[in-house]
Amino acid sequence: MEQARGQWGSSVGFILAAAGSAIGLGNIWRFPYVTGENGGAAFLILYLLCVILICLPYLFAELVLGRHSHKNPVGAIEAIRGKGSPWVWAGALGVITGVGILSYYAVIAGWTVGFIFKDFIAPHLDFAGFTGNPLVSIPLFALFIVLTVGVVLGGVESGIERTAKVLMPVLLVLMLLVIIRGLTLPGAKAGLEFYLKPDFSQVTSKTVLTALGQAFFSLSLGMGAMITYGSYLPKTANLRTSGAFVAFFDTLIAVMAGFMIFPAVFAMGARPDAGPSLVFVVLPQVFASMPMGHLVSMVFFILLTIAALTSTVSLLEVVVAYFVDERLWSRKKSAWTVGVVTFVVGLPSALSAGASGSLTHMTFLGKEGFLGIMDYLWGNISLALGALLLSIFVGWVWGVKQAGEELKLGSTITDSGVRLWGIFIRYIAPVVIFIVLLDVFGVFD
Ligand code: PFF
Repeated sequence: MEQARGQWGSSVGFILAAAGSAIGLGNIWRFPYVTGENGGAAFLILYLLCVILICLPYLFAELVLGRHSHKNPVGAIEAIRGKGSPWVWAGALGVITGVGILSYYAVIAGWTVGFIFKDFIAPHLDFAGFTGNPLVSIPLFALFIVLTVGVVLGGVESGIERTAKVLMPVLLVLMLLVIIRGLTLPGAKAGLEFYLKPDFSQVTSKTVLTALGQAFFSLSLGMGAMITYGSYLPKTANLRTSGAFVAFFDTLIAVMAGFMIFPAVFAMGARPDAGPSLVFVVLPQVFASMPMGHLVSMVFFILLTIAALTSTVSLLEVVVAYFVDERLWSRKKSAWTVGVVTFVVGLPSALSAGASGSLTHMTFLGKEGFLGIMDYLWGNISLALGALLLSIFVGWVWGVKQAGEELKLGSTITDSGVRLWGIFIRYIAPVVIFIVLLDVFGVFD
């Protein structure tokens, strides 16, 4: 059976694919705007602490769960607790969250594609004018879903891995180019200062919690994406090294995105706390006043599209793996069915950027707009809940001893290393995540 199931061709292929999942709009669009809103350097430091203390140990839990069973999130839990176990719902939540996140993430990714060509087809329109036109946003959204389905159809090795292998290095090089351009703009220094000189006087508990939420989202944690990607790893793979590489690359790209955006924003006299529109509103202005601005803009949005695609592929893959493993559907049937369903679920998000007044202005839990509400429900609440359940499952239900045996396969990790990891996964991660959830539900307001 394992033979019929896909497997990564090499550990480099896995690392690139998993890093491709992690690196996406979360790094390049969400990280800079959240950092900009939360004071810059101090937030960056908190974010790095969250990655190291919470996300990295939790990442190993997801990878170990996936490789143990070679299954999707639902199958992985069934393999340990049996079919009727209520813990299976923790895996099912991940599969549902995959559709939830993909439904609006692909909308933003569609805008990204649009912005590659915007200077040429609609230079007079601003962000709202462009994304608020359903004749623009819906076809772009559909296109992105089709692109994602296309890659997932190729399967694990030929589709996902090959795409990631080519695209990831290209992404790195393109980012470096934009960073160098931004850093050489007059006035860029103020941006560097904002990003690197911490001012902790503005930090509240809410800032800490925002940093943690951003770290989960960015590392693709809490919905079983890393369970699924881990499930395609052979027993000989070194989970510790691979996981550490993935976290390192993801964090590197987020930090680089900050270097790409803040110097440029300050050089332009723009505001770092412009919010979710930061990338889409501020940067095109920055590009427009730069020599070869059209080219820089195109390069940037191509880069963002690449990053988004390797992430949407992992979101879809979680759901497809469930239907392939558990429902015995073909990869083709699974990918197209989930793609169409996601498109339908995402239509209100695509219309909420100005095309439909009621969707644009609806509010729920303090968030405005259908897309913002979806991001909050799936990208925030659901990920935190999923990570809480899965860390308890691995740390307490499956147990550190059993999980540790799996973690040790293929790596040189010692018993005391496993014990240390156990402390993080049993106590630190669940407690901190629980506090995040309380905050999400407004207990601290
Ligand atoms: N990590 C992706 C990003 O930073 O854009 C988003 C994401 C992908 C979240 C896959 C969750 C996931 F399972």
